[in-house]
Amino acid sequence: MIRYEIAPGGALAGRVRVPGDKSISHRAVMLGALADGETVVDGLLEGEDVRATVAAFRALGVAIEGPRDGRLWITGAGVDGLKAPARILDMGNSGTAMRLLAGILAAQNFDSGLTGDESLQRRPMRRIAEPLAQMGARIATAPGGTPPLVIQGGVRLRGVDYVLPVPSAQIKSAILFAGLYAAGQTVVHEPAPSRDHTERMLRGFGYEVVTHEGRIALTGGGRLRACALEVPADLSSAAFFLVGAAIVPGSELVLSTVGVNPTRTGVLDILALMGANIRLENRREIGGEPVADLRVRGGGLKGIEVPESLVPLAIDEFPALFIAAACATGRTVVRGAAELRVKETDRITVTARALARLGVRIEERSDGIIIEGGRFRAGTVDSGGDHRIAMAFAMSALRADGPVVVEDCKNVDTSFPGFADLARAAGLRIQVRAS
Ligand code: S3P
Repeated sequence: MIRYEIAPGGALAGRVRVPGDKSISHRAVMLGALADGETVVDGLLEGEDVRATVAAFRALGVAIEGPRDGRLWITGAGVDGLKAPARILDMGNSGTAMRLLAGILAAQNFDSGLTGDESLQRRPMRRIAEPLAQMGARIATAPGGTPPLVIQGGVRLRGVDYVLPVPSAQIKSAILFAGLYAAGQTVVHEPAPSRDHTERMLRGFGYEVVTHEGRIALTGGGRLRACALEVPADLSSAAFFLVGAAIVPGSELVLSTVGVNPTRTGVLDILALMGANIRLENRREIGGEPVADLRVRGGGLKGIEVPESLVPLAIDEFPALFIAAACATGRTVVRGAAELRVKETDRITVTARALARLGVRIEERSDGIIIEGGRFRAGTVDSGGDHRIAMAFAMSALRADGPVVVEDCKNVDTSFPGFADLARAAGLRIQVRAS
């Protein structure tokens, strides 16, 4: 068991670069593996989730070297070059890895299986199994629609015209990856924008994707061309530092080279509505993605009603935003966020419980939460094994009136290896204890 013990107070200052974007790193490994030629990825997230994807493609016969200092060399096998794995593929804690890979495996000429850790084994998989079945795929889930997935190979997929029931980049991407192999056109309609890294990266690998007003289309049967790719720093990881600095007057922190793809920047908009002072400097583009240096200065935040349209654009940042809300003056209301219940944990219940332990007044709703901002007291909270909840509550100590202990923090390594060291260098009084 790993736990964080954080002494209260302090402020965040300086310049930090958080690790590479998790969503983009997974996709870089997957498309590099399916491309013709050698793909070199720089700035790859070396977290356990992405390592699980790398290990899966090695098991599928792809030669991959690294990662070393964020660099990965992939000798692409071509879209038709994957080999049958010797055993079931273990995707650890990663829903993205499992769902996206299922789209690829459904189209292979061999059988395969996907499993994961205790948390992943509870997550819903019908959301991808159903549309893939409409394409002709044969995927069996456990009775509750959860992993393991058993995927039968040797079926010829056909294109589909599919309306997503929820804005989900994982479902969209699983369908588009299957669509690479399908006969004819595959079309996905989104009810609201979700992260578009798959569409951007497919184009980077020379594959045509046509997008227009929530309709995304590609035609199967093409090839992918290897390329050199640089991964921006992950805005979802930067979010903990943005919130940590924003809740402490006197903090001033710069987060460098952070991805600011407009399908991800809901957290910046929500914090701005709360009165946070965040400036985007030195805007530029790397690897087909917009990036910027984010300068955040601490100051008084106020509670808000979070616009529902921003929820899908900030879906992974709510654990951090809940801490911001708990430090703000007045009440914050989040609605239309039921998807939070099917992440690595039920993020509404697990955070509500943890906030209550620190004396914050909250009201849990089926699709959101109401948080009365104010003071924190010292306390011990359980992250439920959720990496993002662990990191969010580590930051809460900046405003607590005594030490905060966060239990079950091992999974921080899935998305943010080195979090505690980087946070300490920026000013958080955090110690890591193993027991
Ligand atoms: C992701 C999509 C989101 C997000 C997850 C990463 C991706 O999930 O929560 O952390 O890389 O496509 P959903 O597609 O289920 O919303």
